[in-house]
Amino acid sequence: MAGQGPISADGGLVGEGDFEVQVRQTFECMRTVLEQAGASMESLVKLTVYLTDMGRLRDYGRIRGEVLPGPPPASTAIQVGSLALPGMMIEVDAIAASRLIPRGMYSDEDAAALYDVLNPWGPSDDFYLALVMDAASVLDVGCGTGALLHRARESGHPGRLCGVDPDPASLRVARRRTNIEWVAGTAASMAWENEFDLAIMIGHAFQALVGDDEVRASLAAIGRALVDGGRFAFETRNPLARAWERWPELAMDVVDPSGRPVRISYDVESVVGDVVTFTETTSDPDGTPLRVDRASLRFLDLDTLGGFLADAGFEIEAQYGGWLREALDSTSPEIVTVARTTRRPASRSDAARHRVLVGRPRRMRAPE
Ligand SMILES: C[S@@+](CC[C@H](N)C(=O)[O-])C[C@H]1O[C@@H](n2cnc3c(N)ncnc32)[C@H](O)[C@@H]1O
Repeated sequence: MAGQGPISADGGLVGEGDFEVQVRQTFECMRTVLEQAGASMESLVKLTVYLTDMGRLRDYGRIRGEVLPGPPPASTAIQVGSLALPGMMIEVDAIAASRLIPRGMYSDEDAAALYDVLNPWGPSDDFYLALVMDAASVLDVGCGTGALLHRARESGHPGRLCGVDPDPASLRVARRRTNIEWVAGTAASMAWENEFDLAIMIGHAFQALVGDDEVRASLAAIGRALVDGGRFAFETRNPLARAWERWPELAMDVVDPSGRPVRISYDVESVVGDVVTFTETTSDPDGTPLRVDRASLRFLDLDTLGGFLADAGFEIEAQYGGWLREALDSTSPEIVTVARTTRRPASRSDAARHRVLVGRPRRMRAPE
């Protein structure tokens, strides 16, 4: 693709005078083009970046690292006198490699239907269901196929239940139950204010928030959506337990809801800082690959997580090493957190600024 820049859908310049907004909007445009072509940002293999001021190269590199975590594509940066629109500070040409395996062999719909087979009800769901049943109004952020809210309604929850997820195929599964609100979007894009008593982010969905800005914008939006004193419960894997080192040993043979036997296996591609990038391969039982999904997950340590929560106006009410409320120590596999809002966090204008930070759909729950 060529000529990608900080341009809105109606052709106007986005972020006049603001380099950071321009870079993020440029990547957002690239994401849209790639997704329309059935690819993703992970497909990028080469970037050629045109800057009107080479002095901004370091800023560009920082933002690109947040938008594209993991090993960067090969890149060339060139300084130019001016670009297509007055005020434009960046333009990008890019080469993306199409997936080796055509998506049609195991579609997004197939993969979404398989999700609940791979992730049956377990202790984590019991932990969150108890919190949900006690709350009058609940927001499930990164709800995926919506199994937890489905169960809450079946168990007689009488109040408001709302699930949010950026993945269209997962939401199609969730929407089979119509007495729950289902909203397409990322955590950072949510615009509710003062509406929910409880927010949850389960199945390690919080780890899909990889960049600092995305974590901050998501926590700010969750805090705003909650009433004062509202609770936010979620878990992240403890980085000290290094779970990713065991994922490659966890291949599974399962039968999908259409009766097709498939094999699921995992490979870790890179560990950069606290971000683990891995692939999930869905194969025929003989090992013939049908689709490969790649995702990055962030393994926040306790202090960094606590800092993000405090900055967003949350105070930690309880923290456990597992969903059976085990004590948290350095060997615990999980950091299960229940936090409360203590003040109104960042304003809506901050949220609007971050709305360009759309998280990638990542359906994979990754092995426990
Ligand atoms: C591992 S799944 C968990 C799904 C569900 N919560 C569960 O427990 O089964 C992670 C979910 O997070 C969603 N997700 C990814 N990025 C997100 C973001 N920025 N905001 C909200 N959800 C996101 C994915 O689409 C995916 O459905």
